[in-house]
Amino acid sequence: MSRRHRRIEPFAVQITALRPGSLGWGLNEGEPVVVRGAPPGAVVIAQPFQKKAGVIHARRGALVQAPPDAVAPRCALFTLCGGCSLQEIPLSAQRAAKQAMVETLLGDLSGVTVSPVAGEPEGYAYRNKVELSFGARRYVSEGDRAAGAPDEGRFLGFHAPGRFDKVVDAPRCELVSEGLNALIQSARGLLERSALPPWDARALQGFWRHLVLRESWAGGRLVGIYTSPPPEGQEAVAEAELHAWAEGLPEDVVAAWYVNPRTGDAAVGDLRAALKGEPALIERIGEVAFRLSPTAFFQTNTPAARALYERVGEALGLVPGARRDARLVDLYCGAGAIGLSLASRVREVLGVELNPEAVNDARVNAALNNIPATFIAGAVEDVLPALGADDLAVVDPPRAGLHPKASAWLAKQRCAALVYVACNPESLARDRQLLAAGGWRMTALWGVDLFPQTGHVELVARFERVDQAGQPSEA
Ligand SMILES: C[S@@+](CC[C@H](N)C(=O)[O-])C[C@H]1O[C@@H](n2cnc3c(N)ncnc32)[C@H](O)[C@@H]1O
Repeated sequence: MSRRHRRIEPFAVQITALRPGSLGWGLNEGEPVVVRGAPPGAVVIAQPFQKKAGVIHARRGALVQAPPDAVAPRCALFTLCGGCSLQEIPLSAQRAAKQAMVETLLGDLSGVTVSPVAGEPEGYAYRNKVELSFGARRYVSEGDRAAGAPDEGRFLGFHAPGRFDKVVDAPRCELVSEGLNALIQSARGLLERSALPPWDARALQGFWRHLVLRESWAGGRLVGIYTSPPPEGQEAVAEAELHAWAEGLPEDVVAAWYVNPRTGDAAVGDLRAALKGEPALIERIGEVAFRLSPTAFFQTNTPAARALYERVGEALGLVPGARRDARLVDLYCGAGAIGLSLASRVREVLGVELNPEAVNDARVNAALNNIPATFIAGAVEDVLPALGADDLAVVDPPRAGLHPKASAWLAKQRCAALVYVACNPESLARDRQLLAAGGWRMTALWGVDLFPQTGHVELVARFERVDQAGQPSEA
């Protein structure tokens, strides 16, 4: 509990709703409480640690009463790892909770056609990419610590919530396929046999840093191994270990070794050696092929991304199989996935994206598919491309939403269609008001469950211009 507030003793609370950040929401004697990782329907012991803006923030203590439709979490590391905190309720309840959260956060939805949050039937093994950290220190549960489990050694897993220096050792992850889990096992074998040490995030030294795995629904798996520069005199050892390991990988796997001389905790580095094949995969969304390097930005749930882009097409009024003589302007375009996947339905695509590597990937992907597209590297709020009356605009900003300069500019545009893709309903709720000031009204809303087992939801919102009388104007 922060010093400015008196200590609040733990109490039992009925969780009735979901809030962003996978927080379970409830009331304690009329005061709102949020508990991370507590699912709607459960009664848990809340252990308060902070009160902010009238809301009590609490850690989750014992489960007093399971949700009525409780299911067993599949992950053996549930609660320890900190991800996937909705595993105790079925997908249908997760989606209903996400729907209710969106409706609460967006407020007035009169005049908006709201479609229920939709998703794929499979809620596990959906991620096409996973990133793990090697570490010399492990995060263990209180119980394991009491039982004497060692917390120093050679580990490979996920960072424990709020811990830069420790990893939760993860022999497998339920969000990826058995094919990627087999590669996690294989990399653990490499680590165990190695003469070189894993990264120690306190001492800022060690060799093994990160493991990035990708898998394409079109076929193939990719491994990126990120290390520090090999210690002097041990270059040959590192090379021999990595090459011997890569030789034993199955036929459909490509692998590469990247070296990161910096100490920051990010899976980045310069290509040191292609260990097996070309380090890239081809993924497909409909007819469009995307070339993915280990770090290229791409939605991590391929089938759900396909559904998301279909919703964007629908919201823009683009019909599969028909080409409209219009330009699609894809703002915050990443590696161009939205624009390129809908390119066959428009005349041309223009994308704007801040990250130069993503822009490069977008250009490579446009060329790979012979798509007439232009990608501009820069901040949307600086580029502010001239939009014509026939243009169809889609914005897919990061969690913080639109930059004030971008929303003020967009509010004044008179393009034929405007669609907002949001990963943060609170940002959409704010930007919606800013766009309304310029005459844009939200008329349709779709939710797509890109990340089952987590509290995230992706939204697609269609905006239409309204005339003085509040009626949608003719495009
Ligand atoms: C949610 S992602 C977009 C994903 C992409 N539309 C897709 O579906 O693959 C948001 C993107 O906005 C980019 N970005 C962040 N701030 C930006 C800015 N001010 N201007 C342009 N792009 C920005 C990020 O680099 C990121 O690629």
